[in-house]
Amino acid sequence: MTPMPLPGQPHVHFADGALHVEGVRVADLAQQHGTPLFVYSKASMLAALAAYQRGFAGRNAQICYAMKANSSLAVLQVFAQAGCGFDIVSGGELERVLAAGGTPARIIFSGVGKTRAEMQRALQAGIGCFNVESEAELEVLNAVALAGGHVAPVSIRVNPNVDPKTHPYISTGLKGNKFGVAHEDALRSYQRAASLAGLRVVGIDCHIGSQITEETPYLDAMDRVLDLVAQIEAAGIPLKHIDFGGGLGIDYQGDTPPAADALWHKLLAKLDARGYGQRQLMIEPGRSLVGNAGLCVTEVLYLKPGEHKSFCIVDAAMNDLPRPAMYQAFHQIVPLSPRDGATASYDVVGPVCESGDWIGRERALAVQAGDLLAVLSAGAYCMSMASNYNTRGRPAEVLVDGAQARLIRRREDAQDQMRGELLLD
Ligand code: LLP
Repeated sequence: MTPMPLPGQPHVHFADGALHVEGVRVADLAQQHGTPLFVYSKASMLAALAAYQRGFAGRNAQICYAMKANSSLAVLQVFAQAGCGFDIVSGGELERVLAAGGTPARIIFSGVGKTRAEMQRALQAGIGCFNVESEAELEVLNAVALAGGHVAPVSIRVNPNVDPKTHPYISTGLKGNKFGVAHEDALRSYQRAASLAGLRVVGIDCHIGSQITEETPYLDAMDRVLDLVAQIEAAGIPLKHIDFGGGLGIDYQGDTPPAADALWHKLLAKLDARGYGQRQLMIEPGRSLVGNAGLCVTEVLYLKPGEHKSFCIVDAAMNDLPRPAMYQAFHQIVPLSPRDGATASYDVVGPVCESGDWIGRERALAVQAGDLLAVLSAGAYCMSMASNYNTRGRPAEVLVDGAQARLIRRREDAQDQMRGELLLD
């Protein structure tokens, strides 16, 4: 049988009636490691990265993987070994990158609420740049740097007030979002930064949102940022690099985001036309590097037919796959071994005691208890957002590379979850 690719998932395919990730039968992994289980394709991650690398060929560009999308150590290793830098948003993420062998000078630190301790640690590690998100943060970073005998490299994250046309919870570059310094205040903030002895201005940064499926918001944001670059440099403050953030969407349900190389072809043409094509460029992609590289395998526990609705109760839940509950997000759900026969419409739900605990609604499935299902496009913002709600251990994770599969995280047990807690006397 010719392998059948699923939309947006070149390394996830059916062969001989069974779902495979690269050369490995997913059902074999479920049997070996249990469910729920995250399975990732290394080739898919590297192919997604290669699209960006092609887009930037011949340019001075640094790809900083936004690790909040999936911060498992082995995933970080894949990107570190491929030469990526990292976009981090906490001290915990910094420690993970360092543990995975990331290069400190290629780390950029974003986020609106960096603590003094996080700043100190990042300065001591020698990270490449702090993306500062407010004037108050500039003052604190300056003080922390001076106290430790450092000079902190900084960019200011500017808020270009561009609508990324995505879910409001993952839209970040509009007025009224908590992120970045307003466009009209950016020059003043740069002048302040340039006057502080503990800071060294190195760049400018913006990030307008996530799961962006159109190119226009990027082109508009680029225009707005380049206008600022011109103003800031005219005021005598040179900017070494320009960071355009992340946000490129993936195909969850027939979505058609631009390909990374095609998008960058257009953006670079604009940069060239405006005379900034030779600048050092940075980007912070997360989802588009890992989202379609992963799936979550879950077992059907019970079918519960009802007059108004039928439920397919599975062993994965909102604690493992929080995106549907949080954003009404859609993830395709497919049986690992499709059955012949009539389908019925099910809400696919987990065992957590919340009505919001659903993974897919009104899905046509031919299933029986004991069947295995794959929740697709689960490489980004699933495991990294997983919780222990209902004292459920977080799933195990496997990374597939060709015909090889490696366990990269053991399933959490109850002891793991209780570690660090203290009983009363
Ligand atoms: N840079 C910054 C400063 C960010 O805040 C983010 C994502 C990224 C880069 C990476 O964006 P990406 O390329 O992954 O779109 N949990 C949500 C997504 C939250 C995105 C937060 N920031 C979801 O599951 O859809």
